[in-house]
Order: sequence, then structure tokens, then C-alpha cells
Amino acid sequence: MSHPETVLPALQLMLGDAAAADVDVLVAAVGTREGRIEVSALALSDAVTRELVEAAEAIGHPGTQGASLRIPSPASITAPSVLLVGLGEFTGDADVRSPLSDESLRRAAGSAVRSLESVARVGLALPMTDLPGAEAVGLGALLGAYRYTAHLSECGTTDAERVISLAGDHAVQPALDRARLLARAVAAARDLVNAPPSHLFPSSFADAVAERAKTVAGGDAVVVDVIGEDELRERGFGGLIGVGSGSDRGPRLVKVSYAPTGAGHHLSLVGKGITFDSGGISIKPAANMEKMKSDMAGAAAVVQALFAIAELSLPVRVTAWLALAENMPSGSAVRPSDVLSIYGGKTVEVINTDAEGRLVLADALVAAQEEEPDLLIDVATLTGAQVAALGYRTSGVMGVSTATSAVLRAAEVTGEPMWAMPIPEEVFAGYESKTADLKNTGKPGGGMLGAAAFLRAFIGEDVAWAHLDIAGPAYNSEPGYGYITPGGTGVSVRTLVEVAQRMAFEARESESGEWPLSRSQI
Ligand code: BES
Ligand code: MN
Ligand code: ZN
Repeated sequence: MSHPETVLPALQLMLGDAAAADVDVLVAAVGTREGRIEVSALALSDAVTRELVEAAEAIGHPGTQGASLRIPSPASITAPSVLLVGLGEFTGDADVRSPLSDESLRRAAGSAVRSLESVARVGLALPMTDLPGAEAVGLGALLGAYRYTAHLSECGTTDAERVISLAGDHAVQPALDRARLLARAVAAARDLVNAPPSHLFPSSFADAVAERAKTVAGGDAVVVDVIGEDELRERGFGGLIGVGSGSDRGPRLVKVSYAPTGAGHHLSLVGKGITFDSGGISIKPAANMEKMKSDMAGAAAVVQALFAIAELSLPVRVTAWLALAENMPSGSAVRPSDVLSIYGGKTVEVINTDAEGRLVLADALVAAQEEEPDLLIDVATLTGAQVAALGYRTSGVMGVSTATSAVLRAAEVTGEPMWAMPIPEEVFAGYESKTADLKNTGKPGGGMLGAAAFLRAFIGEDVAWAHLDIAGPAYNSEPGYGYITPGGTGVSVRTLVEVAQRMAFEARESESGEWPLSRSQI
């Protein structure tokens, strides 16, 4: 079954005077400085900017982040209307065109485009001053435009018909190209998360990955190896076989490799890919169970990050391991008290079949370590406890400090909220079993940390490993905010690409003057 990817709007340059641009809506930014309204726009004259300040004051625009108000244009602007997108308080330089943080540009562009869903031609005159700023505007705009329409008979203005133009000159074109490449990867991860489990299950997920790999960077840069059910059983992948045993659609372990010649370091990524988590025999309550189609968001993120890294031709070897299974109750399902033998031989007593993610991850983590990567990162919608501790927007990062700090530093650049959490000794105590080497659940309290402690039991001593729990941030059940749309968010894709970029630069310091540079490398 083919898996269509959402087509993003076109992203192009709006050269010259933004007031004369042939667009349906022109977007300018409004903020406050010491209580006064300020308009900050690129490619607009001081006179037009002053007119917009007067208009913003006349309608009582608060200038706060996320507040967007649309007004009929003053006569000096060709577009019929202007959207004044709120940026919040301006700080620092008194120059109204002072650069904003990349994240506030991404958010402003995202909320502007999101609120203009049916508008075909949007012109963005947001105040960016450099290539990373232009990339931020382009990325925020494309991500804010995302809609999942694969199963709608009628969907209005399709994204393919939309054009987003960005004020700037030819020098920023490479930033727009990079924004498009990254947005495509995030949108593709969102598509996979939003795909219903009737259409996306282990084998169809594996097929979609193999199909897409053929189109990445000329066609032979990425190699996909799908390990089927029989081979998984023969080779002792007891976590995937056990978790997948309740479903008619068998599990898969998908290994995706990008190994360019001259690569310095090796980054291994492992993703939890439960295409639907009913809980199994320890079945979940009906309320919100439909959201468990998103339980493969980790696998979606790692594979799309790898595709983006390959398309950027980054000189770093990357291997992604997708642990795919459907967790269902049935006569053949794994039972509480069953014992599973994880790849490599460690045994686990299943106490709760709903703690399935850690079982499939354990298999994949052991397999990934056989290749001795320099950095190992797993991404998983692992625990409800992550949501309790950090909410729906901030992911938890656990593991070995060298690895977690690499992730956290990258996340600061990409604007994806992430926070370091510990793995205290005592949380592991609850996982001791009398029947097997360990149980799959621990004592109550600190469930996110306990799950990480369980995973750590499968990590070798000197391995630089980080674990990302994205349970809350992976799926947005609310209306959109900033560049985040309803449904799958694609969280962690951009941070993983940034991690790889940093590994590549570390390996090739001599060329670190090249663009693209992350802000922190400038
Ligand atoms: N997929 C869930 C975790 C989850 C919860 C993701 C909410 C997104 C939103 C996971 O498989 C799970 O069910 N975890 C259990 C573990 C428990 C049984 C030890 C949980 O967190 O409740
Ligand atoms: Mn579960
Ligand atoms: Zn799960």
C-alpha cells in the first residue's frame, strides 16, 4: 500500500519593495517595546511601517506572541490585506529591525501561515537579517502550512496550490532551500504519525521507508534492510516477536543505513515504532485510545532525520533502526507473566503488556550497539509519566551525559523544547524479577525515569547513549500554536539533524567555515 506524502506549498523569494508585492496577504510583525507598539518588517519603507504602527494602535493590537490580527491594507500596500503577527516584547537594540531569535521568527511565520489557511499567496516581510533567520522564517512558514488531508474527499485550497513568498534578496536562496528540505522531513514524519493504523502497520511502514529511500539523494545513498518476522524469530528478537504476537500484522525491524564515503563519525538512531498501542492484554481505557496511532512517532522521527541528513550530504555515517510492531490483544498475544528473551539473550518477565515500547526498543538497542556507533540516540513515545512530568511540549532527555548534552545543545539551536532528566539508582530496583533477568515495569513513581533505567540495562558500559521520551510532544491534540499544527508534530527530527551536523563539523574542523552554520557555530 503506497503512503502519500503531503505536498508543501512553494517557497520563493519576494524581491524588492514588499509593499508592491503581488500577494493576497502581506505579513508584518508587531511587538512592544516598553509598552509601545512597534512594527518590525523587512523590505517596507519607514513611511509604510509608520502607517502600520498607526493601524496596529487603532485596532488595539496587543503585540503579544501568537496574537494575529488582519486588517485592510493602507493604500500604500498592493496586497488587499495585511496580517499583523504578534512577536511579544522587543528587547535589546532600540533599532526596530534588530534581529529576533530564530525561534520567535519560526513561531511568528508559523502562526501567520497557519491562520491564513485558505489564502493562496502569502507574502512574509518578517524582520530576519541573516541566513539562519531566513531559514527560520521559511521553516516556520512551511511547517505552519502543514495539513493532513490524505483521507479527505474535499480539502479546499490544497497546499500544492499555495505559494509563500519571503522578503529578501538572492543571497538567502540557500536558506530557503535548506528550510524546504528540513520542512519536508518534518512533514513526512507528521504524515507517518497522522496515518491511521488501518493504513500504516509494520509491513506498510517498512514498504514506505524502502520506497522513499529510492528517491533520496539520487537513489543509492540510503540502503534499507527489512528484517521480517521469521528472521526476527530465528535470530532471537524476542521483544519484537512478543509484542507483535497479538496482531495479525507481524513485526518488522527496519535498518536504514547512510554511509557516505569519507564519513567521520557514526550516529545510530533507534525509534519506537508501535503502529498502534491498544495496550495488549493489559488493555488501555477507550478514552483517547485513538491517539495511540502516534506510538510510532519515534521511528518516524529517526527515519526522516536520516533522510534529511542524506539529502544534505552530511559527512557522517547514520544508521536508523525502526522497531515496528502493533500491540494488540488476542489469543496469541503476549500475557502478563510471560517471559521474553531479548536479542542478545537477556530475559524479561512481562508484568504489563502496555509497557511494550521498552521491549521492542531493547531488541533494537542491542542490535544497534553491535556496530559500535560513536553516538546512540533512541526516540520513543515511551511513558505517560513523561507527560505528567514535562507536559505536552517538552521532551525528556536521559542517558550518558556526553550524549545527552549533545542532544540538548542541538535542541537549543532548533528550538525544540527538551529537558535533562536523571536516571536515579533506586528507580531500577523495582525492575528486579525472581523469574527472569528483569521485569518490564517498576515501582510506582518516576515512570519516565524507570523506563530509562530499564533501557539502560541493555546499554553497554562505555556507550554514549541518550534516550528521548517524546510521549507528550509527539502529538498535538489541541489547536495549533506557532508552527505546530494539530496531530503529529514531527518533534525531534530537526534536533537529530542538528546533532548529525555537529558531528560532521567536529570531524572536519578545517571546513567549519562553510555554510550552513548553526547560530552557535558562528
Ligand atoms: N505508548 C505508551 C505511552 C504514552 C502515553 C504515549 C501517553 C503517549 C501518550 C506506552 O506504551 C505505555 O503505555 N506506557 C505505560 C507504561 C506503564 C504500563 C508502565 C504508561 O506510561 O502508562
Ligand atoms: Mn503501551
Ligand atoms: Zn506504547
